[in-house]
Amino acid sequence: MISLPEEFCSNMKQLLKDEYDDYLSSFNENRYYGLRVNTDKISSKDFLSLAPFRLKPISWCSDGFYFEEEDKPAKHPYYYAGLYYLQEPSAMLPAEVLPIEKGDVVLDCCGAPGGKSGRLANKLNNTGLLFANDISISRAQVLLKTLERQGATNIYVSAQDIATLDRFENTFDKILIDAPCSGEGMFRKEPQLIRSWLEHNNDYYAQIQKKIISNALKMLKPGGMMVYSTCTFSQKEDEDIIEYALEICPELKVLPIKKSEGFVEGLTPLTRNCVRLYPHKIKGEGHFVALLQKGDKKEDKVYEEKIIEKPADPFFKDLDYPFHNGHFETRKDKLYFIPDHNIDLTGLRILRSGLLIGEYSHGRFEPSEALAMALKKEEYRKIIDLKNNDERVLKYLKCETLNVEEFDVEGYALVCVDGYPLGFGKVSKGILKNKYPANYRYI
Ligand SMILES: C[S@@+](CC[C@H](N)C(=O)[O-])C[C@H]1O[C@@H](n2cnc3c(N)ncnc32)[C@H](O)[C@@H]1O
Repeated sequence: MISLPEEFCSNMKQLLKDEYDDYLSSFNENRYYGLRVNTDKISSKDFLSLAPFRLKPISWCSDGFYFEEEDKPAKHPYYYAGLYYLQEPSAMLPAEVLPIEKGDVVLDCCGAPGGKSGRLANKLNNTGLLFANDISISRAQVLLKTLERQGATNIYVSAQDIATLDRFENTFDKILIDAPCSGEGMFRKEPQLIRSWLEHNNDYYAQIQKKIISNALKMLKPGGMMVYSTCTFSQKEDEDIIEYALEICPELKVLPIKKSEGFVEGLTPLTRNCVRLYPHKIKGEGHFVALLQKGDKKEDKVYEEKIIEKPADPFFKDLDYPFHNGHFETRKDKLYFIPDHNIDLTGLRILRSGLLIGEYSHGRFEPSEALAMALKKEEYRKIIDLKNNDERVLKYLKCETLNVEEFDVEGYALVCVDGYPLGFGKVSKGILKNKYPANYRYI
């Protein structure tokens, strides 16, 4: 049994009253494991017939499933193909409740490691823009990797304190704040969080959260919507932050969230529309979620897709990817496709803007891993499609050279597992020189 801090227990007793013992008992039960299907690559229906895992639906996320720990989906090549993301079930709710329209400009304020950003990207379906940010550069690198593996293309990834993004006043249609918090809802999943709870109290996080929400409110367009979430139970970090937001932004409304079985409403009259998830009431860990709107919605968006002609380089002859609503840009030998938006990135720590297509090296073009992950098999002509039980799949993911003599291709080939791209390799006379990036390697 985990040893919980006395002060935390007394707060929880006060909060839960006669449910407190049920909450404590939840620590004796196994935690739940979740994965979320990447609908940019495969529908949940197709995934269910393809995946060799025992899956059960998560009621509050249409593409979320519980899996059995022993099935080890993180070890399967489909994971490397970006077909799904492993995510704690209750953490699927915040991005799920944020309504996103095609063409929206969306900010994820505190995005790393990227579970929720990934779902926001799915909802945008490579239209509009996802500006995914995290204060920490090392965590923002993980965020980029998450989005890149998923095949997200309409992205900016930055490493900024959200307070430094004040130039973006009234800019975003939708904002997600998955705030840094004391993590009380994760004690069963990550008992080491108890130590950091002892270091910083709820007031410490509440100060940070107030700053983040007031900055985000300025960046939200009039009529725009925002989700505020934490994985903690403290009223100081949850309902009090929403009440603070209502105070500083009088036109703000708290919108209702569709309730699944076991969801509990917010604690105060002004925050009844918020939801609280508790590990003794749902199959998942703890979370708090609020859906907010700044005034009334202004106009319905009209999204038009404009296809852009591809560059003349020989590599692009084999590529049938529909580049749209953006422009090509070469920076330091790297070629990007950047979504068209009036977002001024000058002076910001930007890890990625748009889709990195590849790099010119010694006069030749080398396609990137980001491009491989953005492609569907039919969008590139030179394909090496291996079955998931072919030993060459793991060899490829371990960056080894492969014999692919039965495939009639030369030059850059897209290596796929059961039709889903993994990365590029360069084929010469039946031998594939591996171009899979070392930092993506199978472990
Ligand atoms: C709860 S985690 C986010 C988890 C993420 N939304 C996901 O689903 O994977 C909170 C994140 O906020 C970041 N953070 C803390 N203070 C911040 C600030 N002032 N501006 C931007 N990010 C911040 C932390 O580095 C941390 O990665």
